[in-house]
Amino acid sequence: MINDLWYKNPVIYCLSVGTFMDANGDGIGDFSGLMRRLDYLQGLGVTAIWLMPFQTSPGKDDGYDISDYYGVNSAYGTMGDFVEFAHGAEQRGIRVIIDLVVNHTSDKHPWFQEARRDRASKYRDWYIWSDRKPPNAGKGMAFPGVQKSTWSYDAVAKAWYFHRFYDFQPDLNTSNPKVQAEILKIMGFWTQQGVCGFRMDAVPFVIATKGANVRKPVEQYDMLRLLREFLQWRKGDSIILGEANVTPDTDMKYFGKAGERLQMMFNFQVNQNLFYALATADSRPLIRAIKATRPRPATAQWGIFLRNHDELDLGRLTEDQRRRVFEAFAPTRDMQLYDRGIRRRLAPMLNGDRRRLELAYSLMFTLPGTPVLRYGDEIGMGDDLSLPERVATRTPMQWSTEPHAGFTNSDRPVVPVISNGPYGYEHINVAMQRRDPNSLLNWMERIIRMRKEVPEVGWGDFSIVPTHNPAVLAVRYDWRNNSVLFVHHFADTPCEVNFSVGLADRSGRRLINLLSEDHSHARNDGKHRLILEPYGYRWYRVGGLDYLLQRSGLD
Ligand code: GLC
Ligand code: CA
Repeated sequence: MINDLWYKNPVIYCLSVGTFMDANGDGIGDFSGLMRRLDYLQGLGVTAIWLMPFQTSPGKDDGYDISDYYGVNSAYGTMGDFVEFAHGAEQRGIRVIIDLVVNHTSDKHPWFQEARRDRASKYRDWYIWSDRKPPNAGKGMAFPGVQKSTWSYDAVAKAWYFHRFYDFQPDLNTSNPKVQAEILKIMGFWTQQGVCGFRMDAVPFVIATKGANVRKPVEQYDMLRLLREFLQWRKGDSIILGEANVTPDTDMKYFGKAGERLQMMFNFQVNQNLFYALATADSRPLIRAIKATRPRPATAQWGIFLRNHDELDLGRLTEDQRRRVFEAFAPTRDMQLYDRGIRRRLAPMLNGDRRRLELAYSLMFTLPGTPVLRYGDEIGMGDDLSLPERVATRTPMQWSTEPHAGFTNSDRPVVPVISNGPYGYEHINVAMQRRDPNSLLNWMERIIRMRKEVPEVGWGDFSIVPTHNPAVLAVRYDWRNNSVLFVHHFADTPCEVNFSVGLADRSGRRLINLLSEDHSHARNDGKHRLILEPYGYRWYRVGGLDYLLQRSGLD
């Protein structure tokens, strides 16, 4: 079988241009700055970049409020700068995917401006209107607690308009064929500029029926097929990575039974239960989540992540589970958000404990799917809770001990750099960690290299190996005659586990450790006995290291 579906086995790095690197000294990151850091990303070993929104925007929701889909925010540079960046990434073998934010536009978008001014405008029907305040206006907010309503009155339009998110983000009428055609045009445009796909924002809302009379929105899944088919005609290897925080019973609707819809989705189900496991050392709900999200077409892939630019949404956990995660990782009110989530970076949540950070990342790199790493997490950056809502975790990248972490030579970065305290740039920065062989950055680089040498994770089938201890998760992958096994220990006390690898033949008797010399040989009864230190983890290749010679050409 051919295996050139690149998204099955990459390492994706997510960054926002505005907080990555400022080259012209105005305090805002830009494409020239990003260009200068491409070698850093290549050195780290990432194979794809997910760029957060960089199009023209008033910037009231970190760029998720677009006012021109065909232009670059002038603070970040020009279209020319974008294409130079895309080319630079391509030269280094790094693919670029960008956000596709088409559930809504900015209220400053000319389409909305024209639509509100003139009932007869062709753009009127690009948005969702109502003459009266709809009865469900107080329901369905994406940001509960901050956002008061999903319908607002517009005095110019003399009508109410629907907005799933903030009131400055009017929803597009995505059922309108003209709007759909425009979405395709946007995708075609950026594909032509060198991008390899899209992280599609808020997918369930984009495809839902919308309107004053819609009581229960219905997802029109076949829209996803339309987008995907168009994209693959334009550029065969480009993909859609969907942001859809949905329950496992609908996953296949998003992927499509024959894999005809989204190629990738973020695995929110695993994400939330992973944090529960980290908080309580009970991996059973995580195992259930992994199994529940197992069904997917052979051509589809999960995106496995720890933190992203949003709150850590725990809405799919039970109330009791959520309370326990809050207790462990966000004990005070100001660390929580929207009554369901946490607005912190990973390192402070784990108290900067290197053992726990490695455990969490080791899981991110070995759970079924493709790892997605957020900028700054590779050096253990912290958060700034004095900033509003989700901005707390969106501070500039910490490059060095120079003023403002070497992010900018301006006196006023748009978002302040974290300084002082344990996560200040004086202590946490790329330059220092680059020189320290034991830094988190160098650990990350090594683990990424090793992850690339175990394609079994991206391509193979997995089995949960029973360890009879809820604090120890063991997952085996089988692919093309080869097996790898990953063991993770969530508890803070040492433990002993006994398990058999579970393969019929004798190959499971020898486990070769991929990260150290600490190999394991089964005892006479065929079982392995491991002593695991607190938060310990092991990466094993089953049988031996000469796997390249044994790997068959077939699945
Ligand atoms: C998605 C984004 C989030 C944004 C929202 C509205 O949830 O991840 O950052 O605020 O969509 O576009
Ligand atoms: Ca700049």
